[in-house]
Amino acid sequence: MQSLSILSISIVLLSVSWVTSDSIQDEFYNCVGLKTEFSIPFSEAFFTPNNASFTSILESTAQNLRCLVPSRPKPQLIFTPLTDSHVQAAVICAKELGIQLRIRSGGHDYEGISYTSEKESRFMLVDLSKLRSINVSIDDNSAWVETGATIGEAYYWIAKKSEVHGFPAGLCTSVGIGGHITGGAYGTLMRKYGLGADNVVDARIVDAAGRILDRKSMGEDLFWAIRGGGGGSFGVILALKVRLVPVPAIVTVFTVPRTLEQGATKLLYRWQQIADKLDEDLFIRVIIQSVNETNMKLGKQTIQTAYNALFLGRADRLLQVMKKSFPELGLSQNDSVEMSWIESVMHMADFPSNIQPEVLLEGKSSYPKIYFKAKSDYVKEPISEYALERLWKRLLEADSLVMLWTPYGGMMSKISESETPFPHRKGTKFMIQYMTIWQSDHEKTAAKHIDRIRGLYDFMTPYVSKFPREAYVNYRDLDLGVNKVNGNTSFRKASVWGNKYFRNNFKRLVVVKTKVDPDNFFRHEQSIPTL
Ligand SMILES: Cc1cc2nc3c(=O)[nH]c(=O)nc-3n(C[C@H](O)[C@H](O)[C@H](O)COP(=O)(O)OP(=O)(O)OC[C@H]3O[C@@H](n4cnc5c(N)ncnc54)[C@H](O)[C@@H]3O)c2cc1C
Ligand SMILES: *[C@@H]1O[C@H](CO)[C@@H](O)[C@H](O)[C@H]1NC(C)=O
Ligand SMILES: *[C@@H]1O[C@H](CO)[C@@H](O)[C@H](O)[C@H]1NC(C)=O
Ligand SMILES: *[C@@H]1O[C@H](CO)[C@@H](O)[C@H](O)[C@H]1NC(C)=O
Ligand SMILES: *[C@@H]1O[C@H](CO)[C@@H](O)[C@H](O)[C@H]1NC(C)=O
Ligand SMILES: *[C@@H]1O[C@H](CO)[C@@H](O)[C@H](O)[C@H]1NC(C)=O
Repeated sequence: MQSLSILSISIVLLSVSWVTSDSIQDEFYNCVGLKTEFSIPFSEAFFTPNNASFTSILESTAQNLRCLVPSRPKPQLIFTPLTDSHVQAAVICAKELGIQLRIRSGGHDYEGISYTSEKESRFMLVDLSKLRSINVSIDDNSAWVETGATIGEAYYWIAKKSEVHGFPAGLCTSVGIGGHITGGAYGTLMRKYGLGADNVVDARIVDAAGRILDRKSMGEDLFWAIRGGGGGSFGVILALKVRLVPVPAIVTVFTVPRTLEQGATKLLYRWQQIADKLDEDLFIRVIIQSVNETNMKLGKQTIQTAYNALFLGRADRLLQVMKKSFPELGLSQNDSVEMSWIESVMHMADFPSNIQPEVLLEGKSSYPKIYFKAKSDYVKEPISEYALERLWKRLLEADSLVMLWTPYGGMMSKISESETPFPHRKGTKFMIQYMTIWQSDHEKTAAKHIDRIRGLYDFMTPYVSKFPREAYVNYRDLDLGVNKVNGNTSFRKASVWGNKYFRNNFKRLVVVKTKVDPDNFFRHEQSIPTL
């Protein structure tokens, strides 16, 4: 009886809003217009699908073309706030009108959940790209960064003020501050200084009630949650205050490729034993893919393992460190290139060496936009040479697969597992990212590649972390949330992906979420659920 009456009430409500409402665009426009306390002109921030700029704004920062195919739902409205109060008005009105917000900073989400939505029928995009100011204060050793900026812009302005200050965040310079740092943010400085999230000291956020809170007024629980708990769950972060870290005026980089013919398997086995124990000034990641062996018969394929490194010091000291810890690589003076820290940022992001750092201000990626699917794993024990050889067979069969092995250890092991929501700390040797890329919007092509990467992920099961099999929240993977039974997709409990991304911190994230957003207004396919 009771459930029946609830049902009929909601049917009445539904039909009322159906009859009286205009389009979602008109409703939102009128609502914002009536919020006089936020009444700074906003019409220039408002884009309906009829507007000639709608599609170009939607596609502007969307990094994964897989998420822009015609079958993916598009927002009914784009709002590009010009001021903090626009963000407040957007939250208040969207909540009042039952419109779902998708919040976008840099648009690099792997599953596109910052601008598409599989389940919500009424949703709009709040694109923060107009809120990107950055103030660096060398005296205070800090910077305030608005979340619509890219990490490359932050690096640029820090380096502009000082050549001996840096910030430890991602290698890819076009990632947005908002989604990146809220999920962790690792890069070449992580072994020395931890993650971007570990170096946040204050924040400004618009909460579900439309209030602007800072660290003091939000309290330590929420401040903890937004430093690694992933974007889109707790509010709209407007700006972060980050702690700058010292870097030497001259650093050294190298990239040394080794193929199977050059002993790649033994070398990678060795790297697994030392990568997390090396001098903290040294970060050596490995990029693994199949390539055509140029010195041999045309068309012969091999596996290439490229050792791609940053050293916080000069080449002569690097050579000593390498001689002591990893002589097997055979690094020579010729392989090492000295440069400023900002030049190393450009080098590690794969920009051509003749490009000036000003390119970082354009916000564009150094990587072309592509169709891709990715997954992640954490490794706690070295993978045997035998297993590596089996892995090479798979990579040789599918030349679109790329693996990135990123070393942990150093500062990453010194920060406790519950210090921030990011739990992959002591005991983690390295992280694996798997990626498959393609160049066509045909569904069959996509399906083939996605099948392949899922197969590779299954193959890796015995060699990676277990109970839970951990994953990096910033390498968002919606496969982790679903359970396919005989081809039927049934959604699993959020705790499945929650424990992979956050381990024991997931429970605390749920408690914080329940406290600050009990109505679950800020939500997406993998947002933190309420109790
Ligand atoms: C080419 C490429 C390279 C990468 N390299 C690295 C790397 O080196 N290191 C690393 O750690 N990660 C890396 N990543 C992953 C990256 O950190 C994540 O994709 C991150 O979420 C991107 O942030 P964004 O703001 O660009 O994304 P968006 O797609 O804008 O947002 C991602 C998520 O955060 C939410 N969000 C965005 N802004 C806000 C905000 N202001 N307030 C609240 N929620 C918000 C969104 O709603 C969404 O849920 C890379 C990704 C790509 C595509
Ligand atoms: C598109 O929207 C912008 C911002 O609201 C507005 O300034 C512009 O006139 C619109 N253009 C068209 C062609 O509708
Ligand atoms: C930077 O300073 C300017 C001028 O004082 C201010 O308008 C802006 O909001 C500041 N930005 C941040 C992110 O604090
Ligand atoms: C290797 O060469 C073949 C034949 O020329 C080509 O089809 C393939 O794309 C190449 N693979 C790589 C990884 O370059
Ligand atoms: C380094 O480069 C120089 C000049 O190109 C060359 O003569 C020398 O053999 C190289 N040394 C090594 C160890 O490769
Ligand atoms: C899929 O789920 C539906 C509804 O639960 C069920 O009727 C159907 O038999 C399932 N199909 C398979 C192949 O399990």
